[in-house]
Amino acid sequence: MGIVLGIESSCDETAAALVDSNRRIIAQRIASQDEFHRPYGGVVPEIAARAHADRLAPLIAATLDDAGMKLAQVDAVAATAGPGLIGGVMVGLVTAKALAMASDKPLIAINHLEGHALSPRLADASLQFPYLLLLVSGGHCQLLLVKAVGQYRRLATTIDDALGEAFDKTAKILGLGYPGGPAVERLARLGDPRRVKLPRPLLGTAEPHFSFAGLKSAVLRAKETALHADADLAASFQQAALDCVLDRTAKALGSIDKPAALVVAGGVAANQTIRAGLQSLAAQHGLPFVAPPLSLCTDNAAMIAWAGIERLGQNDPLDFLARPRWPLDPDAAPVRGAGIKA
Ligand code: KG4
Ligand code: ZN
Repeated sequence: MGIVLGIESSCDETAAALVDSNRRIIAQRIASQDEFHRPYGGVVPEIAARAHADRLAPLIAATLDDAGMKLAQVDAVAATAGPGLIGGVMVGLVTAKALAMASDKPLIAINHLEGHALSPRLADASLQFPYLLLLVSGGHCQLLLVKAVGQYRRLATTIDDALGEAFDKTAKILGLGYPGGPAVERLARLGDPRRVKLPRPLLGTAEPHFSFAGLKSAVLRAKETALHADADLAASFQQAALDCVLDRTAKALGSIDKPAALVVAGGVAANQTIRAGLQSLAAQHGLPFVAPPLSLCTDNAAMIAWAGIERLGQNDPLDFLARPRWPLDPDAAPVRGAGIKA
């Protein structure tokens, strides 16, 4: 049995968690920075880094207190080492290094995307490799074949915006504030998903890549015409996004041997409409569908601690550098238009 302390600070959640190899989340704390970033309509990297620096150490102490544990009782310290907003990542990684050094425990540097990718295995002990993972967050939108811990084949990525980014920008256009995804989902419940005609970028193309920039621009133009109720716009946007997700995921499924399951992870996996659509797609393909509970979908430290459990035995050097970019599949061919997305 092992216990790992996990630390997450790559975006706007400061989080710490203790997880054991029996998949028990012994304790976890998350401090959201929503209130700091809301006035700017998005995450301000400098403000995020400072807030992580202020809050992380006491948050870790409180998490250990909640568990009634001392640092000496953990088997390793795992922290997100990238990709993400580099100031925040550095705060988390340096803190983890200090704790590992002081307690003479191994340091495990975790790829944040791997944290998301393996989080369904924390929630569901029966989930086997290989699974097809739709990883949809604020910064990433990828289809990955998860073959084993550390073995990922990227089948698709976005050529412009991530899906969560599209939700956030739609929220901004509709004046729903930040963070946008949950607000768009709530408003969409009151609207008609067929009312506003919106594009489905890349639908039907041979490669299963994503594109959402055109959809977002279409939402902006539709809003400017003032012809539609905001709820109809939100619902129609969500439907268009779902149609793209289902078409692209089906395309990826058609390009690989039958996986053990269809899995969704990342912040947008909290969206009930997207979950339900994927669930029926999985059923059509005779696949189990696995989605982590909502609290494990958005950024959290339990998934980082769990990735640490999956990697127990690893001991990263104290000069391990924080990585602003860190693709899960370094061999994936670059996609035209994909810009700096990892
Ligand atoms: O995984 P995450 O917490 O952070 C990143 O690593 O990016 O994902 C955050 C993203 C944001 O874009 C947020 O708007 C989106 O996930 N999100 C949602 C929902 N909850 C969070 N998008 C749609 N519907 C939701 N219910
Ligand atoms: Zn994330």
